Amino acid sequence: MTDSPSGMKKGLANYGDADFSLFLRKAFIKAMGYSDSALDRPIVGITNTYSGYNACHRNVPDLIEAIKRGVMLAGGLPIEFPIVSMHESFSHPTSMFLRNLMAMDAEEMIRAQPMDSVVLIGGCDKTVPALLMGAASVDLPAIIEVTGPMMTGSYRGEKLGACTDCRRFWAMHRAGEVSEAETEEISGKLAPGAGTCMVMGTASTMALVSEALGMMLPGGAAIPAVAADRLRHAEATGARAVAIAAEKLRPSDIMTEAAFANALRVLQAIGGSTNGLIHLTAIAGRLGISLDFATFNRIGAETPVLVDLKPSGQHYMEDLEKAGGLAPVLREIEALLDTGCRTVSGKTLGEDIADAPAPWPQDVVRTMADPIHQGGGIRVLGGNLAPKGAVIKQAAATPALLKHAGRAVVFDSLQDLAERIDSPDLDVGPDDVLVLRNAGPKGAPGMPEAGYIPIPKKLAATGVKDMVRISDARMSGTAFGTIVLHISPEAAIGGPLALVENGDQISLDVAAGRIELLVRESTLAERRAKWRPPEVPGSNRGYLKLYLDQVLQAEDGCDFDFLRKHPGGRTID
Ligand code: FES
Ligand code: MG
Repeated sequence: MTDSPSGMKKGLANYGDADFSLFLRKAFIKAMGYSDSALDRPIVGITNTYSGYNACHRNVPDLIEAIKRGVMLAGGLPIEFPIVSMHESFSHPTSMFLRNLMAMDAEEMIRAQPMDSVVLIGGCDKTVPALLMGAASVDLPAIIEVTGPMMTGSYRGEKLGACTDCRRFWAMHRAGEVSEAETEEISGKLAPGAGTCMVMGTASTMALVSEALGMMLPGGAAIPAVAADRLRHAEATGARAVAIAAEKLRPSDIMTEAAFANALRVLQAIGGSTNGLIHLTAIAGRLGISLDFATFNRIGAETPVLVDLKPSGQHYMEDLEKAGGLAPVLREIEALLDTGCRTVSGKTLGEDIADAPAPWPQDVVRTMADPIHQGGGIRVLGGNLAPKGAVIKQAAATPALLKHAGRAVVFDSLQDLAERIDSPDLDVGPDDVLVLRNAGPKGAPGMPEAGYIPIPKKLAATGVKDMVRISDARMSGTAFGTIVLHISPEAAIGGPLALVENGDQISLDVAAGRIELLVRESTLAERRAKWRPPEVPGSNRGYLKLYLDQVLQAEDGCDFDFLRKHPGGRTID
């Protein structure tokens, strides 16, 4: 047996005779038609996350071809393999419910199969975090390529973007301003092609923070899915995957505590999705790093929102790409970043920034002196209603509502919300606080993006556009409003949110970082004694059982406890 330099020899203990195992392995891989010469070089695994259900990943086959070209030009052998794919709209009950399944699939298949490095292809909201979580746990040299954002659509002369404008048009439809027939026509224009949602939703957020973390080659986050530049970036990623295999540059060398601080700062500066905080927490947890919310708020206070993208601003990802992508953002906040962090480029973040094209005049990335929003996009809240935390995307909220007290109007579940929110009999006024519960990680289950509680029809019809809305759910990064999310502990496990009753006073003070239930502790104690956990049907088997047994709260990234890095835990080989 030749002394192969490749990952063909990884994990050969299964027959107790390593040479026999390699012999067998070679016999079966040769059945794919590879020559000895092809196998006698570094193997780069490529995750194939294509699915006929996932338009956000529609260009994955093209990306794989470009990545393979890059791998082969650099002297490696590319081998693609399938990984679970998921699209936001086709992941019942929620994509968050399935994110950890995809992370487990990625982790185990990267570990199981012979490869020296791996190219991760993600794009749609949960796929990038799932792949990074899995790759972090294996800690094999890894590099990510995203599918890239969609181009904008157009409807009767108006530019459209998924899915901020989906919500806007649906709200107009609810208010009677857009007909049923028009909604049919608009549904053909909102997501006009391959790629991820082109506003600052979770997909764009995770692409940009992955580049800031150092896991993506510079300049890759904002290139549109259909651009030739996207394929060139993929080719370069393939070539670099061969190099990181030789350098043994591992995710744990790149995703350090300092790199996560950089990523959190970029999350604030781009006005990123609140989901980004959950996902970064989960990825960090795979490396034994815990993200501190006080630090996150301090970073936010120092870092204004600079990127003028919907839903906080006006532009789309294609405009950010034309403005230079992430580079102008990094340049503007460079003094606040740890530029010594290594990236998959093999250089430091500071060197990557210096290598980026010189800036040119543009109006998408603002300066520190002239931001979109003073103070970061996201604020973590505390208070007696959220002892373990809650978040608000303050940059997408109504400024006048950021300090507000009102009467609670409580919905006990998603079903209750659906049944009553539009009832003409609903006792609700514009100053009330809409409360949704049992929509957290365990409650729904799967922490749906239901935090964007619709304005009750009878108020919407009178022109009410925003109200304070609070829940233990998540919200799409493409949504907007004065909305408190991720309240923890969630109601389904007996968090204080479970004890709120109609008519209670709730006060929100974002500047002070507090969400409070203004009810006497003795009254709450009485309610707590009577509280019973809600039943989740079908929880005695399968992945749902695993999920319900293991899922952690938002402040721990909603990961499974046994997947986080524990001292003495499993490592590669
Ligand atoms: Fe895939 Fe929006 S649905 S990124
Ligand atoms: Mg989304």
